[in-house]
Amino acid sequence: MLDHELFAQLPEAFRELERSFAALPEWDAGVPGAARMSEVLHESALRLGDNYPYFHPLYAGQMLKPPHPLARMAYTLAMWINPNNHALDGGRATSRMEKEAVAEIASMCGFATHLGHLASGGTMANLEALWVAGVLHPGKRIVASAQAHYTHQRITGVLRIPFAEVACDTRGRLDPDALEHLLRAGDVGCVVATVGSTATGAVDPLPEILQLRRRYPFRLHVDAAYGGYFALAANLAPETRAAFDLLGEADSLVVDPHKHGLQPYGCGAVLFREPAVGTLYQHDSPYTYFTSREMHLGEISLECSRPGAAAAALWATQRLLPLTRDGEFAQGLAACRRAALGLFAKLRDDPAVFTPFEPQLDIVVWAPRGATTTEVSRRSREIFERAAENGLHLAVAHLPAAFFAAKYPELRVEQERMACLRSVLMKPEHEAWVERIWEILRKSNM
Ligand SMILES: Cc1ncc(COP(=O)(O)O)c(C=O)c1O
Repeated sequence: MLDHELFAQLPEAFRELERSFAALPEWDAGVPGAARMSEVLHESALRLGDNYPYFHPLYAGQMLKPPHPLARMAYTLAMWINPNNHALDGGRATSRMEKEAVAEIASMCGFATHLGHLASGGTMANLEALWVAGVLHPGKRIVASAQAHYTHQRITGVLRIPFAEVACDTRGRLDPDALEHLLRAGDVGCVVATVGSTATGAVDPLPEILQLRRRYPFRLHVDAAYGGYFALAANLAPETRAAFDLLGEADSLVVDPHKHGLQPYGCGAVLFREPAVGTLYQHDSPYTYFTSREMHLGEISLECSRPGAAAAALWATQRLLPLTRDGEFAQGLAACRRAALGLFAKLRDDPAVFTPFEPQLDIVVWAPRGATTTEVSRRSREIFERAAENGLHLAVAHLPAAFFAAKYPELRVEQERMACLRSVLMKPEHEAWVERIWEILRKSNM
């Protein structure tokens, strides 16, 4: 189950790597505690068993996707070197691998020019983009939709940039009229559009937002931390595809390889369309950047030390599964969406279920029918627990009751937010498990 056979390829790769350093004189590296290592490793395996089975298709809850075995192996291999991608001095090979891998992500997103790098995740990547927006539009507000990730409001707090929330429609997408209302005040420096919201996978209407940019001079930052890779999927609805086709118009963009990009955690990416923003990062570092005139990634990132192993893993994964629209990786994303549509269809056809809207990407939200939001919330939590007892792991989300009341006016709204069920079907294998997931849901009083 845990790909023992695939990992058997690792010793040969270690030997290959070792050959590059064969000319070094013998030395004794000394491993403190070597005698007890296997005992502690065994203990670690026992401790790690206390987890939900994120790697299995019956884990259909939060946004968690297993890294590709090659990513795990390339990461492990690179750990032997433990490169630091701050400067070429600390991570020569992996800095170059990072630049190549990031360029491929930029091209997937339609950026004709770019400056970008990896970051520890979506939060740090978004922080850099909003920091740049704040420097370029000092004193102006940053706005994001009510369904944008909470990180944007928090980041603007850290950066002391004024923030405002833009209302959403009843499908969780930024409402362009509400945005225009804010823009008329003339103090908005940056609009954050979410392409794939965390809760429901909603995609903000980029065509309308870009039309507004022609009339109001704001910077557009796209948070595609979760959704970005769907740019490659062939089975998006036309309206969703229209947004993805405009990603290249963003001034900055975030995509997280550690979400849909098959990477271990610690791998986000920020891209800027205009390489000149690199000058904003200028700093004096008298103790680094001395071996090469080539750009050191630390010169264009806020974080200093960063794991070169993350770049090695990403580079290897993209080499194996190129980011092309007709490739195996793209087919995996299309399978995730088919899984979500398949589960949605079963839920929609069941008269005992509320399904507020069709998934735009691969997140399905639904709730058991009930007369009031209180009753629906209670029953959603019960089903969540019952399903877990039956081996199916879902997630609970607290969403605006308006999402449901818009389609089901008979629902009595007693609270603004209602607990409902949420499944992120982000493993391509989910497609083959929809029937089984459905059976367990039925067994769990759905
Ligand atoms: C749309 C979006 N933006 C930002 C983030 C934050 O990313 P991270 O958890 O990698 O810091 C998430 C996380 O789920 C997300 O879905």
